[in-house]
Amino acid sequence: MKRKVLGTLLVSTMASAAMMAAPVMAEDVNLADAKVGVCIYQFSDNFMTLFRTELENYLVSLGFSAENITIQDGANDQATQSNQIDAFIADGVDVLIINPVNSSSAETITDKVVNAGIPLVYINREPSADEEARWADNNWDVTYVGCDARQSGTMQGEIIADLGLDTVDLNKNGKIDYIMIEGDPENVDAQYRTEFSVKALQDAGLEVECLDDQVGNWDQATAQNLVANSLSMKADDIEVVFCNNDAMALGALQSIEAAGRTVGTDIFLVGVDALDEALENVASGKMTGTVFNDHISQSHSAADAAVNYLTGAGNEHYIGCDYVKVTADNVADIQAQLK
Ligand code: GAL
Repeated sequence: MKRKVLGTLLVSTMASAAMMAAPVMAEDVNLADAKVGVCIYQFSDNFMTLFRTELENYLVSLGFSAENITIQDGANDQATQSNQIDAFIADGVDVLIINPVNSSSAETITDKVVNAGIPLVYINREPSADEEARWADNNWDVTYVGCDARQSGTMQGEIIADLGLDTVDLNKNGKIDYIMIEGDPENVDAQYRTEFSVKALQDAGLEVECLDDQVGNWDQATAQNLVANSLSMKADDIEVVFCNNDAMALGALQSIEAAGRTVGTDIFLVGVDALDEALENVASGKMTGTVFNDHISQSHSAADAAVNYLTGAGNEHYIGCDYVKVTADNVADIQAQLK
């Protein structure tokens, strides 16, 4: 594998592997000349829109020039994204930041990017443990920046468990009767949030009953239809609506309200991400809670990791970030933090 050295960038002798990927600047690095290629799985995704906007702004604040940052929309199609990656390689970008359409394509993506001598930062959609092990085994300049989705699922479950069985068990059958609206099932975020939200209820000693489990693909309108359908079939038995993200929780809320139900009174609703609108709903009681998926810290860590590759400082092969539980108790703090 050839390791590319930027025209005006020289590999620095700085210490290797900055754990949290704080940017380690070497005097001879001129970030303004570095070309950054960014692939986003789908521009229309609400959360990834927050992420990419913050990523671009932060890269510019670090000294990259806006015209050298190219961000491509994979339009939720791996073939489209693979072509975009090929074009970035042909164009000779100095670093790539990739939010894969399919995490299962990571091996192919890694091979072609590493063969081209370009450092690679994966974001948001975590490749498999086997794939991550290859980066370490081969000492490749490849890392993943993201959160552990198990934590967000656990927090969703805890938000409901903390209300107590008496409050949530509206039909008094001794169980938490819930429906689950899942994100893209290929994505570990969806798999883990689905599994760990329910596990947190069980770990709190609560019995659970799943009344419906549907795939909403992270999408508000899809979730709105699915929840309308569930509510019409299972009517009053549904006590909790778990949505793997806030966009789907917003869709769920539309259907909950259309069915004449009231969150906090006769049904409970949780999401993940802390989109502005979801935070407003938590503040006004229209959502029981959400989980802050920290796009600021993740995008900054991704950009810092890119810089660390460009300077030669290098990175660990996994750079983590914590989620934060959001309920009426702390929503004002989170809103203030995001202003
Ligand atoms: C998740 C996020 C979702 C969606 C997904 C895309 O982390 O919670 O809203 O953006 O990433 O992969």
